[in-house]
Amino acid sequence: MRVLLVLLVCSELLSLALSSTNDAYPTGYGDELGSCAKNIGELRPVRREVYEGGQIIDITHQINPDTPTGTPEGIGQYLTLLLSMKNESDYNFSELKIPVHAGTHVDAPGHMYDHYYDAGFDVDTLDLGVLNGPALLVDVPRDKNLTAEVMKSLNIPRGVRRVLFRTLNTDRRLMHKKEFDTSYVGFMKDGAQWLVDHTDIKLVGIDYLSVAAFDDLIPSHLVFLESREIILVEGLKLDGVQPGIYSVHCLPLRLLGAEGSPIRCILIK
Ligand SMILES: *[C@@H]1O[C@H](CO)[C@@H](O)[C@H](O)[C@H]1NC(C)=O
Ligand SMILES: *[C@@H]1O[C@H](CO)[C@@H](O)[C@H](O)[C@H]1NC(C)=O
Ligand SMILES: *[C@@H]1O[C@H](CO)[C@@H](O)[C@H](O)[C@H]1NC(C)=O
Repeated sequence: MRVLLVLLVCSELLSLALSSTNDAYPTGYGDELGSCAKNIGELRPVRREVYEGGQIIDITHQINPDTPTGTPEGIGQYLTLLLSMKNESDYNFSELKIPVHAGTHVDAPGHMYDHYYDAGFDVDTLDLGVLNGPALLVDVPRDKNLTAEVMKSLNIPRGVRRVLFRTLNTDRRLMHKKEFDTSYVGFMKDGAQWLVDHTDIKLVGIDYLSVAAFDDLIPSHLVFLESREIILVEGLKLDGVQPGIYSVHCLPLRLLGAEGSPIRCILIK
């Protein structure tokens, strides 16, 4: 079945490449023919985080049963095969069940403000203009939570709208452990307030399940989410990525009524 699929995709690419001399569409598809041919017959999926020689970096964690979500257990069985070819069905057909604040995910204003929740400020209302654009990936000092003092020391210039904060959480590989660990690094209330008052940051990304340190879990979220202008992306996979300037691209699912959503984020150099 998969071989057939690969062959179909390959022949599609082939015909595109062969007929790419018209002006009905841009050329370039044919470039993929090489890698296409290589995969035929192998039946071994390739999983990777880096594409196009390092130009595209996936900063999303894979979802699997051990994906952490703030419990001791991880998310557990998140896929159920409703129809199976092993059971005489013509196709495999699965159902997905997953907490919206698991793994790499986004928070909507309704997460911590009940009146925003009631008014419908769900993930479907988040601004894709904020979730996509130039971004700074910064390493923060490893010996502190994200306080006003730490924020000040980073010297993030006015005009910077998207910052991904890499912390001790990445070094400790916390996102790779299924048990929720409350000792993660996050924003203290004064750090969140400093960022709101002294920067133009509208996208705050962090490398564990919550932007807010556990000790200030609610207050820091409230400071960030109050204006409904700041979007919080949590649980990013920043292992091995160089600090610097990138283009970030994050896309949440359009879940009506949901105050959070799994999100796919990539960086482009
Ligand atoms: C196959 O069908 C049997 C009988 O209905 C059911 O017990 C079993 O769970 C099914 N297996 C899968 C993989 O769907
Ligand atoms: C369908 O699901 C079964 C598990 O029941 C799996 O072994 C099989 O490889 C799947 N088939 C395809 C075409 O993905
Ligand atoms: C950050 O705060 C948490 C409590 O929210 C604490 O357990 C942890 O030790 C602090 N980390 C650092 C590096 O100070």
